[in-house]
Amino acid sequence: MKTIQFNDYGSPFQSVDVSMPDLESGQLLIKMAVASVNPRDSGVRDGIFRHIPPPVGPSSKIVGLEGSGIVVASSDTSQAYPIGTAVFFRQAYHLPHGGTWQEYVVATARDVLPIPSDKNMFEAAALRIPYHTALLALEKAGFQQHGDTNQLVFVPAVGSAVGNAAIQLVRAFGIQEPITTAGTTAKAERARALGYSKVVDLSKETLAEGVRRLSDGIGIDVGIDMLGGPYTGQILSVLKPGKTLVVCGMSAGAQASILIPELMGRGRNINSLNVIFTPPAVQEPALERVLGLWREKRINPLIDRVYHFTQAEEAQRYLTLDRPMGRVLLSFE
Ligand SMILES: NC(=O)c1ccc[n+]([C@@H]2O[C@H](COP(=O)([O-])OP(=O)(O)OC[C@H]3O[C@@H](n4cnc5c(N)ncnc54)[C@H](OP(=O)(O)O)[C@@H]3O)[C@@H](O)[C@H]2O)c1
Repeated sequence: MKTIQFNDYGSPFQSVDVSMPDLESGQLLIKMAVASVNPRDSGVRDGIFRHIPPPVGPSSKIVGLEGSGIVVASSDTSQAYPIGTAVFFRQAYHLPHGGTWQEYVVATARDVLPIPSDKNMFEAAALRIPYHTALLALEKAGFQQHGDTNQLVFVPAVGSAVGNAAIQLVRAFGIQEPITTAGTTAKAERARALGYSKVVDLSKETLAEGVRRLSDGIGIDVGIDMLGGPYTGQILSVLKPGKTLVVCGMSAGAQASILIPELMGRGRNINSLNVIFTPPAVQEPALERVLGLWREKRINPLIDRVYHFTQAEEAQRYLTLDRPMGRVLLSFE
């Protein structure tokens, strides 16, 4: 079977032939159909997490955090997932033989979820991380799912996996359209054509200027930040007094600077969200809500491009450099 892996930190992802793994007691063998590409995959390859022990740091040179496929062998006596069941990954961080960028993945019943019969492998592979992260971050930032429909949410990067998921979640709960951003005019126009009406074009105005304009100078009730770098301080500056900014990513830079008066002078707070460190008692209900909304067709992953899995290097470059509008996936067909 083929796996996608890197040899050394910084070297390209390449296809490597390995022997099929043997199953130990309680394990499932999943023939992969689709895997997703996440910023963390290239981060692991580039050595960003190399000195951080698991669960955050990597345990394999075979990356891939999400995906979907069919159970083709099982030594799980519970028979929760009989052979032939279509499944997608609930988590694939530290599986015994590496992540989802390989033709066959060894997992346990705890690592997967069943795919509803009216859903396809692509949607299933694109769902879990962005929506789960987005919902947990929104909740931590004070988003009220059943609260005031006029609460104003800000989520950067309309075309990003987490950002787009967050916007869809806010809409699914019937809350007013969130303010978002796009890095280029072309992306902003594409987003507006797709129905995102409150898009700040970051090539024409700053994030803070755009949010102030679109909120009539009042600011936002809920703010999450997956960009970091120069954006964190700007999002903080447009939060209404007393509100909490939740940082959950760093696509634009690992270092941010904030004006302390913007924080303590207005009673604002900063918090962070990492799904890995979120207690199961918080994670599980959020995942159930995501799955419910998906089953009810109130959210639907936006997919930009599908590559053959042997083109993983090109796919991750496309994600990082071309900044797509939606998810980038790897197909094993
Ligand atoms: N905390 C958690 O548990 C958790 C879970 C999942 C993801 N994350 C993190 O959240 C962040 C977003 O993840 P994602 O999957 O949504 O990423 P993504 O789909 O790759 O989107 C990243 C977006 O960031 C914007 N961006 C701004 N400056 C950028 C730069 N210098 N380089 C690349 N993109 C830039 C781009 O939008 P424009 O083109 O509009 O500028 C891009 O669409 C990542 O840092 C990821 O590691 C955290």
